[in-house]
Amino acid sequence: MIISSATDFREAARRKLPPFLFHYLDGGAGAEQTLRANVDDLQLVKLRQRVLRGSAQLDLACDWFGERYTLPIALAPIGLAGMYARRGEVQAVRAACRRQIPFIQSTVSVCSLSEVAAQASRPLWFQLYVLKDRAFMRDVMRRAWDLGARNLVFTVDMPVPGARYRDAHSGMSGANGPLRRVLQSMLSPRWAWDVGLHGRPHDLGNISAYRGHATGLADYIGWLGENFDPDISWQDLQWIRDEWQGKLILKGILEPDDARAALDFGADGIVVSNHGGRQLDGAMSTAQALPAIAEAVKGKLAIFADGGVRTGADVFRMLALGADGVLIGRAFVYALAVGGQAGVEQLLAIMEKDLRTTMVLTGVKSVAEIGPHLLAS
Ligand code: GLV
Repeated sequence: MIISSATDFREAARRKLPPFLFHYLDGGAGAEQTLRANVDDLQLVKLRQRVLRGSAQLDLACDWFGERYTLPIALAPIGLAGMYARRGEVQAVRAACRRQIPFIQSTVSVCSLSEVAAQASRPLWFQLYVLKDRAFMRDVMRRAWDLGARNLVFTVDMPVPGARYRDAHSGMSGANGPLRRVLQSMLSPRWAWDVGLHGRPHDLGNISAYRGHATGLADYIGWLGENFDPDISWQDLQWIRDEWQGKLILKGILEPDDARAALDFGADGIVVSNHGGRQLDGAMSTAQALPAIAEAVKGKLAIFADGGVRTGADVFRMLALGADGVLIGRAFVYALAVGGQAGVEQLLAIMEKDLRTTMVLTGVKSVAEIGPHLLAS
């Protein structure tokens, strides 16, 4: 199959992966309105075409928290990425380091922080949820810090898991899940050989490290379900601010008032996000929410955005809507599933080329120049 876009990677991933894994990645909450709106609203953002402005030398570099990166793109935290390719998080971090962009490791990664950090030539960024087990949170933050992580992406939009109906149908959860997952794995031979057989252990490295024993996939769903903390509030979060000496980025902000609260709280950055349409179905798309948030806090903290980004033009659109940087999630995991590290590098090359094309056609020479003046109303 010829691959020239994230959409092609998605189709190739669909053919290769057992359905329970494909749908866990691809799906969203409820009727998936927000999931679709993320993609659709972003694609509807119109840009101003400018001509004859001499954009041969383009500067795509960004500075975030005192570090220089070569693209305005980071790999988003994705749970279970190591189930999509052999030691998936390790392959992804290698691709990110090669391209000199951030890799944000999920708490619920298959590979542990230490396994991933050992393969990384730059410090990891680490993502953490609000969990009831505060001792676990302290322990994993200390591990991340000791391994050199200085940027903590703290997910605040998951006090409870969203209703993921696809998971029940696909065998990821629900009746006969274990049996269906085994059958699907046997019917997906390329995945079974690469990840099923040779990608072991299939546990959650960070949680196993804390508990002192392996944690399987079924246990993962149970542990997460029991551990979300719906009672959390801004006051409760203060201990994180006190505990974490590095930069703190709150992920899952969709309202200007919450962005201002994040600023007052002392966050160094936010991720404008609806969790890829996986939490509140009916929530605004990121493209819809971003401009008002940028108006409220732009320049006061770093604004990242995710949700529906599939092309370099989409990256440009997010920056024009007010983001300082863009996270890609599903897009990179489709590529990881298809081609491992090389797949992720190929996707990043495709997105970079598209971003460069978009910059030339809008008459922009650097990422820093991209802003709302390039939006056509
Ligand atoms: C975890 O964060 C998920 O969205 O499944």
